[in-house]
Amino acid sequence: MTSLLILNGPNLNLLGQRQPEVYGTTTLSDIEAMSQAKAASFSVGLEFKQSNSEGEMVDIIHAAKGQHDGIILNAGAYTHTSIALMDAVSSVELPVIELHLSNIHAREEFRHKSYVAKVAVGVICGFGAVGYELAVEAMVRHLRASE
Ligand code: DQA
Repeated sequence: MTSLLILNGPNLNLLGQRQPEVYGTTTLSDIEAMSQAKAASFSVGLEFKQSNSEGEMVDIIHAAKGQHDGIILNAGAYTHTSIALMDAVSSVELPVIELHLSNIHAREEFRHKSYVAKVAVGVICGFGAVGYELAVEAMVRHLRASE
């Protein structure tokens, strides 16, 4: 069975309370439920994780190899800073979709740069929690197209 990993980075555990004017009022556990339902609708498995630690995120990406077929990565602020996460993605040779709730290109200049995008199949941003459903569909279609 095809299996996907959704990995969320720092501060995303606070969704629902954190800057709702930017990130909405949906909690991360609501988003997990939406993502699981979307994955089930395509008959694919899904593991959903969150970490506030860059090193732990590197370990989770490494562990995905052999366990999952693709990764949906909302790396939070590490998107804009982490060469280590970019290298981890390159090392495991799994397709990655970069995901953000907000439209990072309509925000501060420092959010316009992404290390993850350099090694991603594509980027989805600006659609709030719905972006997670879009990313699940995009990854399933990407994987099926390359079968
Ligand atoms: C974010 C955008 C990042 O710039 C920010 O640091 C986050 C959340 C988003 O989902 O919109 O933590 O990844």
